[in-house]
Amino acid sequence: MNTDPVATHADLQLVTLDVNGEQHDVITEPRRTLVDVLRHELRLTGTHVGCEHGICGACTVLVDERPVRACLMFAAQAEGTCIRTVESLSEDGGGELNDLQRAFTEHHALQCGFCTPGFLMLAEGFLAERPEATKEEIREVVASNLCRCTGYQTIVEAIDACATARRGACAQRCESKEH
Ligand code: FES
Ligand code: FES
Repeated sequence: MNTDPVATHADLQLVTLDVNGEQHDVITEPRRTLVDVLRHELRLTGTHVGCEHGICGACTVLVDERPVRACLMFAAQAEGTCIRTVESLSEDGGGELNDLQRAFTEHHALQCGFCTPGFLMLAEGFLAERPEATKEEIREVVASNLCRCTGYQTIVEAIDACATARRGACAQRCESKEH
């Protein structure tokens, strides 16, 4: 008797996902969204689900280093890409907050925290692409996600502080190489 669930259930398929540097084989329905597979199959519950319509941005993850709304993507569409969730931010995988997360804490950029993983991944992707971003550019980018608590100002301050610190560290490294 064939016990392979993919062969015996026409509505199931095998999807291989690269998440936070690890390969995962998941047997799932083709209609499952990436956020559902991340949360329910892989137990990466740091990624939140709000509207499920692409509006709130709570489900933002990085796909090939670009911020993507994981509720708008089928898990199967993410095959062959590198996915990063908020769990990838902690330093050395040991649960220590990274510089961006620390900036959010220091600038009170969260209250209930529901939106925070989405903002963190949005900022992580944006700063990687545009490390020299101005405060105005940061303000424009964070407008794509919804926060009902903070009023956004502290989120902008946190991302700007992190970007400034990263630029400072980068300049210091360049200087020490020259001497
Ligand atoms: S849950 Fe994906 S955008 Fe709201
Ligand atoms: S901190 Fe509550 S929704 Fe943003």
